[in-house]
Amino acid sequence: MGLQTADDAAVYRVADDRAIIQTVDFFPPVVDDPYAYGAIAAANAMSDVYAMGGEVVLALNLGAFPKDLDREIVREIFRGGADKVAEAGAVIGGGHTILDDEPKYGLAVTGFVHPDRIIRKSTARAGDLLVLTKPLGTGIVTTALKHSAAASHEVEAAVESMMRLNHTGSRIMQEEGVHAATDVTGYSLLGHSYEMADASGVGILIRADDIPLLAGTLEHAAGGHIPGGLRRNRRWLAQEDRLRLPDGISEEWVLALHSPETSGGLLISLEPEKAPSLRDRFSKEGEETWVVGEVTDGRAVGVRQSPAQAP
Ligand code: CO
Ligand code: CO
Repeated sequence: MGLQTADDAAVYRVADDRAIIQTVDFFPPVVDDPYAYGAIAAANAMSDVYAMGGEVVLALNLGAFPKDLDREIVREIFRGGADKVAEAGAVIGGGHTILDDEPKYGLAVTGFVHPDRIIRKSTARAGDLLVLTKPLGTGIVTTALKHSAAASHEVEAAVESMMRLNHTGSRIMQEEGVHAATDVTGYSLLGHSYEMADASGVGILIRADDIPLLAGTLEHAAGGHIPGGLRRNRRWLAQEDRLRLPDGISEEWVLALHSPETSGGLLISLEPEKAPSLRDRFSKEGEETWVVGEVTDGRAVGVRQSPAQAP
């Protein structure tokens, strides 16, 4: 379907009414529990299909494990992934595993979408509202966990968020009709916002006051628990007038907005009139959403924060 714009996944039309969505993702453990790790890696890998408004139909396991790793741990990782794929209504059709010093797990994922109903990140329009479907902070909280600095309730909330599929979101976007969407992952909220703005030829204004954060995010950012990739995101966005931060924004907020996320939420761009009904649908499915900004003229990403909100 073309390589002109950076979409979340590859799309290949196989019939007038059907296109294949293909994507792959895998990474080292982000949490200690092997079952949760497998489930998070699977939810994350399937997310790009959902960001494009598709349905997942088939997945293949990709695994790399140390030779001496307990077999029971490997089984738990695969079980976590398999449960998520089953929840998605899809099947695992096999996979491939190799030996590696550091464990890695993820999925190659195949989905379907109607070629006329592909949700892209390049079609946001000035005047749209931006809705986010998960809080930020997974990268910072899991980094704090690696440094043994995260409280168990903080880790539990992060794990619950990362394990949640963006499946409901894909279905609701299709039913309600939206202009554009992407999922918030390694490039951070600001990085993915910039991708959407750049691809759509619009500007984006993020209202930091309305951004939901996982418990512990600002404290752990201030404490130096900075995920790999955050500095790269910051350098990338500092180029060419891509980002305008408000005077007086605190360093921990800047870190949170630039932090890579794992299995983050959808960032949905839609007509303001449609936002209440879309959010109502999420809420009926038990999922919270936040209006975090708007699409503007221009090309850059701006952040606004009221002085009282800065800690
Ligand atoms: Co994506
Ligand atoms: Co991806």
